[in-house]
Formats: sequence, C-alpha cells, structure tokens
Amino acid sequence: MYTITVIPGDGIGPEVMGAAMYVLEALNIEFKFQEARAGNDCYHETGTTIPDETIEMAKNSDATLFGAVTTVPGQKSAIITLRKAMGLYANLRPVKSYPGVNSIYSDLDFLIVRENSEGLYSGVEQETEEGATALRVITRKASERISEIAFKQALKLGKTRVTAVHKANVLKKTDGVFRQAFWEIARKYTEMDEYSHMEVDELYVDAAAMFMVQDPHRFQVLVTTNLFGDILSDEGAGLVGGLGMVPSSNIGDNNGLFEPVHGSAPDIAGSGAANPAAMILSTSLMLQFLEEHQEAFKLEQALLKVLKQRKYLTVDLGGTSTTMEMAHAVREILEEC
Ligand code: NAI
Ligand code: MG
Repeated sequence: MYTITVIPGDGIGPEVMGAAMYVLEALNIEFKFQEARAGNDCYHETGTTIPDETIEMAKNSDATLFGAVTTVPGQKSAIITLRKAMGLYANLRPVKSYPGVNSIYSDLDFLIVRENSEGLYSGVEQETEEGATALRVITRKASERISEIAFKQALKLGKTRVTAVHKANVLKKTDGVFRQAFWEIARKYTEMDEYSHMEVDELYVDAAAMFMVQDPHRFQVLVTTNLFGDILSDEGAGLVGGLGMVPSSNIGDNNGLFEPVHGSAPDIAGSGAANPAAMILSTSLMLQFLEEHQEAFKLEQALLKVLKQRKYLTVDLGGTSTTMEMAHAVREILEEC
C-alpha cells in the first residue's frame, strides 16, 4: 500500500486530478490518498499559498501528485517552495509523440532534464532604484548532480546522446560553471563501459530553441538550467500536441512529485475542456518511480489506445469529449485488461 499526497490546486488542476484518480482506481494497486492544499484558493482561505502541513504530508508520503496552481502575485510560488522543501532537484520532462494526436511531428521521443533547485528560480529578486534584479545562482554541486541524472536517464531510456544546453558565451561565469561541471561528469561517465557509447555535445540555448522546431530528431536527452528547461519544455509540448499532453517528474534522493507541465488554465477551467492526458501520464511516471512498471505500462497503453481511436478526445486534440469522458474511456480499457 502506497501513501500518496494529492494536491489538486486551482483551475483545471482539480479537474485533471479527478480524472487521473478515477483512472488509477482501475489498477491493481492499493493506494492511500491524502489530499493537501496549495495555490490561490488555499491562499484566500488560509493566508498562505503552501501551508506547512502540505509540505510535511508530501515529505512523508511515498510520492506526491500535483495538479496545477494559479499563481498569486506577490506570494511565494507553491510548486517552487515544494520542490525546494522536498529536495526535488531534477525535473524530467519527456517530449513524446502519441499516435492519433495531431501534432507537428509524429515520431518524437526525447527527454528534457531541467535543473530544479536554483538558476533564475532561486527567488532572490530585489527592487533597485532603476527597476529590479534577479539573482541567477548556479552551483557546481547542482550542475554536477543534474548532469549525472541526465546520463543515468539516457542509459535507462536507451538513448545514445546527451546534449548540454546553456548560454556560456554570454553568461560566462554562471553558465561557465554549469558547462564545466557538465563536461567533467561527461568525461567521468563516458569512461565507464556502460556509457562509453554515449555521444556528448552542447548547444547554446537560442540555437537549441531553433533546432527544436527545425530538427528535433537530433535530440535525445537535453540537460539544462532551470529557466531554460522551463521554456524549452513548453516548446517541446508544442511539438507533440500541446500542454495537455506533457507530464513531468520532480525527483530527489528520496522523494518524487509528479505533475503535468501545464498550469491551471483559467481560460478553460470549469468548462470540462481540460485534457487529462498530461496528468494521467504523470501518474504513469509516478508508478514507474514506485517500481510498478507493469501497471505504469498498462496505464500508458490504455491512454494510447484512446488517443489512437480518436473517439473520446478533448477539444485541444480535435475532439468533442469532456475531461471525464476521456478519462472514462481510458478506465474502460483498463477494466477490460
Ligand atoms: P497554462 O499552462 O495554464 O495554459 C496555457 C494554455 O494552454 C492555455 O490556453 C490553456 O487553456 C492551455 N492548456 C493548458 N493545459 C491544458 C490542458 N490540460 N488541456 C487543454 N488545454 C490546456 O499557462 P498560463 O495560462 O500561462 O498560466 C495560467 C496559470 O497557471 C498562471 O497563474 C500560471 O502562473 C500558472 N502556472 C502554474 C504552473 C504549475 O502549477 N506548475 C505551471 C505553469 C503556469
Ligand atoms: Mg512552465
């Protein structure tokens, strides 16, 4: 039995979370779900976007599912606070094409490994006389740690190239540290037999953004700093059917949090139009993290079937179904297995 902290959040967060939980119930795994609060509604009711109780629950469970939250201006970000408090230093964002989904490319499968604990999201901003500044913190330790994760993920996924993405030509000091740490880890890993076949290269982030549109097949595993990873993963989502399709893992040494890449989508909240796929795929990533590989595969295959059939798809995928109708179709396939 796994104890899972569930943080639905705001907007479409609770809608896609409800859909994913409904699907999870059809699996042969026992879960104890404990709901916790965060986000905009939570702020208006409790005075904080992320209560300590939520952090404690997430820290002490086997894994956490996070929907999405609406940002409250001037208040601390719930998700960034959680990532920090739980020590989730790696954000893994697979960009994968699924059959049946109208997208620019139909055969993409690469992974963005985003440093999740520092960079421009360190939260150190200051007002100045002229305007404001933000501190971009890049440490050797975090850069090495995230580079190691990139190589380990590459091996695990059968990939043969790891590409570092940075802007060391302009951000000479900060990305200089990132770049140097990456190449040190690359040397260390490619000297090991298991990794000796791995190609290693690097790109400036602006060129990487261009290649991602023009020639994304060149990518296998990308590793980059926090803000670049955030931007590139939304770009990647745009190549494979949009934000409704892309899940993510936030991983640390002894914890994991799983969430769609998208936000709370206030423009469609309450209309039943939210695509539950990214949240369902995030639960599949959680199952992999819990070493429930068979059930994770079953879940992904069931979703794949629904996408392929093109009968129960949400509006963003060109269909007319609601969030729950699409989830129901996935659950029906699972119950047939
Ligand atoms: P967003 O990701 O919420 O939405 C961007 C666009 O994609 C919208 O047109 C939306 O309708 C569409 N979209 C997103 N998810 C979808 C889904 N599952 N199905 C169908 N269409 C979907 O980003 P936006 O609008 O920039 O931000 C909205 C709020 O979410 C803001 O308060 C923002 O700060 C917050 N946010 C929260 C995140 C989180 O909780 N991790 C991540 C990104 C944004
Ligand atoms: Mg983002």
